[in-house]
Amino acid sequence: MTATTASPGTEVEKGPSAFFKTRLGSLLAVFPLALWTANHLWQNLAAFRGAAAWEEAVTHHPSPLAEALGAVVALGPLLVHAVWGLARLFQWRPTVGSYTYYGNMKVILQRGSAVGVLLFLLAHVYLAWLRPHVVEGHGEEFEDLAREMFTSGDGPTLVVYLLGTLGVAYHLANGLQTWAVGWGLVGSRMALRKFEFVSLATFALLLAMSWGAIYGLYSAGREIVAKEHAAQAAPNADSPPSP
Ligand code: HEM
Repeated sequence: MTATTASPGTEVEKGPSAFFKTRLGSLLAVFPLALWTANHLWQNLAAFRGAAAWEEAVTHHPSPLAEALGAVVALGPLLVHAVWGLARLFQWRPTVGSYTYYGNMKVILQRGSAVGVLLFLLAHVYLAWLRPHVVEGHGEEFEDLAREMFTSGDGPTLVVYLLGTLGVAYHLANGLQTWAVGWGLVGSRMALRKFEFVSLATFALLLAMSWGAIYGLYSAGREIVAKEHAAQAAPNADSPPSP
């Protein structure tokens, strides 16, 4: 079996099925995974419009069939891309010395963020989707997530979401650049430098949407907790002073 280095530090197989194997995980990373991710972040911004708007945008589906199809479209490509990505991580040879310092940093961050994103998505898919559906019999509720974001009652929810979405924003935005090179859309040094701006703008936009949605949930959680405290204090205010 012969091998060639197609992406910094990664050896990939040559052979009849190599094109399919190496290209499928790459293609699915953008169509539909990156598009689905950007849309998901956009929908979560409905947190600023309250519980009903958020649930309509994020957890409501017209029918169980539409919900099942949505899950397959999101999780199928994610699974294929994650398996493809893990295989590349295990084939990785150090690139220090072969590329510029900046280039090396980007390769290391792309692959380091992949591990962080994997851990974040495992926790996110289980806690925000699987557990509410399987254990509680319904989709995630706005009030539960908002309160959790504000109080971090079951663990460091806020920090995990902030770091997890930072990883996703970097991994997707930088990945877009390597993807464009891999698919021949960017062929010269000049085009690569120009694409760097596209990548940076994508990173800034994705991070603004992610942290914006987190802030929307956090603020709603703060209001919910404040109302609960006020309601607890109210009966005491009405009751006559004890002798
Ligand atoms: C929201 C989820 C994710 C999105 C949107 C996403 C997107 C992308 C994109 C666009 C690329 C560039 C593809 C290319 O260069 O052809 C990429 C590369 C990569 N992804 Fe992901 N990814 C996600 C999750 C994951 C996960 C869970 C892993 C698992 C470890 C992973 C591992 C990798 C690796 C190792 C690379 C680099 C491949 C290379 O440089 O040769 N990704 N990703």
